[in-house]
This record gives sequence, structure tokens and C-alpha cells, in this order.
Amino acid sequence: MHNPSQTGADPAVPLLFTPLNMRSVRLKNRIVVAPMCQYRSIDGGPTDWHLVHLGKFAVGGAGVVFTEETAIEERGRKTHACAGLYNDEHVTAYRRITDFIKAQGAVPAIQLGHAGRQASCHGAELGWKPLTEEDAKAGLPPWQGVAPSPIAWSSDAAVPHELSRAEIGEMLATWKQATLRAVDSGFDICEIHGGHGYLLHQFLSPLANKRTDAYGGDRAGRMRFVLEVAEAVRSVWPADKPLFFRMSVVDGRGGQWFIEDSIALAAALRDLGVDLIDCSSGGMNGDGPFPPVPRVPEFQVAYAKTLREQAGMPTLAVGLITSPQRAEVILQAGEADLIAIARGAIWDPNWPAHAAAELGKHDPYAVLPGDMAFRLRDRDRHRDSYPSGSKVDIPLAPDRSVPYSWSERGEYWPAARE
Ligand SMILES: Cc1cc2nc3c(=O)[nH]c(=O)nc-3n(C[C@H](O)[C@H](O)[C@H](O)COP(=O)(O)O)c2cc1C
Repeated sequence: MHNPSQTGADPAVPLLFTPLNMRSVRLKNRIVVAPMCQYRSIDGGPTDWHLVHLGKFAVGGAGVVFTEETAIEERGRKTHACAGLYNDEHVTAYRRITDFIKAQGAVPAIQLGHAGRQASCHGAELGWKPLTEEDAKAGLPPWQGVAPSPIAWSSDAAVPHELSRAEIGEMLATWKQATLRAVDSGFDICEIHGGHGYLLHQFLSPLANKRTDAYGGDRAGRMRFVLEVAEAVRSVWPADKPLFFRMSVVDGRGGQWFIEDSIALAAALRDLGVDLIDCSSGGMNGDGPFPPVPRVPEFQVAYAKTLREQAGMPTLAVGLITSPQRAEVILQAGEADLIAIARGAIWDPNWPAHAAAELGKHDPYAVLPGDMAFRLRDRDRHRDSYPSGSKVDIPLAPDRSVPYSWSERGEYWPAARE
């Protein structure tokens, strides 16, 4: 396996901060801000919110900044406020954001997806409650989702439309069109969202896919549509740019898609030119005996490690990785090639700079934009000259009895008292 984690690594620099080349795209470090739905798009398009939300992670020093799941077509959104990339206005709006992210030295990445049967609902705060005719009166009309089989995803959700063979073919063309728009939007990494219970995951898991044609049945049949999507996307996504695939390595509670299925899928995706598996889990529940994946720290790292080893595929580890030291250990152990953070980035958009400081990286401020780094170094210089607790009289009015000195930068500072 090509092992990007270890290539040219300088042992003096933490692996987390060692650049990584993927195809012709250079990641300045291994920190990825994971996709995070914002429920703040207007008619599918990003707004100033997205510029600020994504921009602050680029300013904070992340190597890769992901957009939220972005629907390839209007009916593939979860909510009326979800992101999409299905018209040319969206392209223009995303251009502004990718330009800004690139100007900070980060790589803009898009996660393309389709909600399938999980369309037509409210957002996360309302537990993805399906839209009703009541909501229509408030300007949020429900619509019918699509799926491999006409099975609702929850007891209160509507039954989705079962995609015909012809519609599956049309859907592949839609994936291609959205990918071309992602190219025009200036993204340098594209990720196909194949997990969390959304359309591609619905095809993969026997819980949602009861088809009897070539797109259902055994594992090869259930994987068919997903592989066709990967092939379609790869055919138009530039050959010099990396393609990622996010999968739920296992279903959720009572699931029927297991790790051996994901290993087989990852190997098949690798052969189609997918460069990395982003290892997530869950989003699809059933009545079987499979236990829910416990949400403990680093709960998905074992999936990244297993797929990396057994599918011969670079992986991304995500899920409650909060400490830079642990992120470094995961990379050093060869369990994953990239580390993603989501909630950690919300809490601390400058997580990369703080991680650099904690890992003892030389000049951690260099992770931030140059002029900001300059100001922080300057702050330290003053702090170090006057350690906390040193008694310095702050002049309220000129007091010629206090000895003052000019700093080399021309600031007039009182000398610390003995
Ligand atoms: C606000 C929020 C929105 C999310 N939206 C998406 C999404 O659009 N696509 C996706 O694949 N995962 C999404 N996730 C999952 C994250 O990408 C990530 O896998 C998960 O939060 C675990 O990482 P963490 O423990 O660092 O937060 C979202 C998570 C959060 C917190």
C-alpha cells in the first residue's frame, strides 16, 4: 500500500504537522475539519455564515476544511436549509468561500451527498423530525424522498419513492453534474458521503435495500450503485485531485452492514481510484443483535486502522479525537493518515495552533496567518519580560522619577522594580 503517513516524515516535526501530498494536492498538515451541516443555506446556496464558519477554520490553521454534506440535487437535501450544488448560482457562491480558504493555505474540500429517504425533515435540533402539512403552512412543504426500496426510515417518516432502474441511471448523471460544479467551485478534494443512513448507505445496508434486481440482494448487488457513483464521480473529478469516500463502517444498533463488508467495499473503491476512506459509523438501525457503537473517545479509530490494514487503503480517523497527543499517537501508530475534528473545531477554531503548542512544535504561532503570528510572538516577548506578578507601575501621568526604557521596536516601557 502507498503509505502517505510515513513519506519523508521529519522525526523532529510531529506527524500531525507533517505535510502530505495526495495526487497533486499538498496538505500542509494532517488536521481536517470534518463536514458539519449548518442548516443555514438559502435555496441550497451558501451564505455569509458559511464563509465565516468555514473561513475561521482555515484561519485557525487546519490543513483541510470540509463543507457540510452538499446535496447533488434539490430533493436530496434533508431540510429546506441544507446545502446543495445543483445550479450555477451555487458555484459562484462557493467560489468566494474556496478562494478564501485557499488564500489561508488550507485545502477546500466538499462532501457531496444525497439524503435519499432521510429527506424532508427538520434539522438536528428538532431530531430530524419529518416535515408535515402543518410545516407546509409555515412555508416548509414536505417532499417525497427516494430510496432503493419503499421503506420509511422512521415510524413517523413518509414512505420514499423506490428508484427505478432508469432513475438510477439518471441519478448517476446528476452525480457527475454536481461533481463538475464542485470542480468549477474551486474545491480540491471531493468526498462522496456513503454513510450515516443516507442514500448510498441505504443501497448498501440490507436494512434499507430489499431490491430483487441487480442493485439489491447479495453484497455485490447492494454495492453496485455505490461503485457506479464512485466511478461516475471519478470520471469527471480531475485525475490530479484526491477523491475521498465517507462510509459508515458498520450500521448502528441492530445493523446488518459489518466491517467485513466495508473492507470489501473499500478495496473495490480503491480499484476505482478513490484515495482515502473516511471512517465513520451508524445512522442505520434495525432489530438485529448488533450492539450500538458506543460513543466513547476515539470510537471509530479501530475502523480506520482495520480498513487501512485490510483494504490497503489510506484512512481518516474521526470521532471524539480531542487531544493533540492522541491524534499524534494514532498517526504515529499507522492507524490512520488524517485526523478529523468536528465538535472540537466548533469549540476551538484555532485547535491546530493550540495542538502545535501542546505537541511542542517549534513556533506554534506559525500555524496561524503571518501577521497574527507576529502579534502573538510580540505578546510573548512582553509577557516574558514582565512575568506575571512582577510589579510595574503603570503610568497614569508622566512620572519622571520612574526609569523608562525604549524597546527595540520603539515602545516606551517602564523597567520592572527590583
Ligand atoms: C454540527 C455537526 C454537523 C455534522 N454534519 C455532518 C455532515 O454534514 N456530514 C457528515 O458526514 N457528518 C456530519 N457530522 C459528523 C461529523 O463530521 C463527525 O464525524 C462527528 O461529529 C464526529 O467527530 P467529532 O467527535 O470530532 O465531533 C456533523 C457533526 C456535527 C457536530
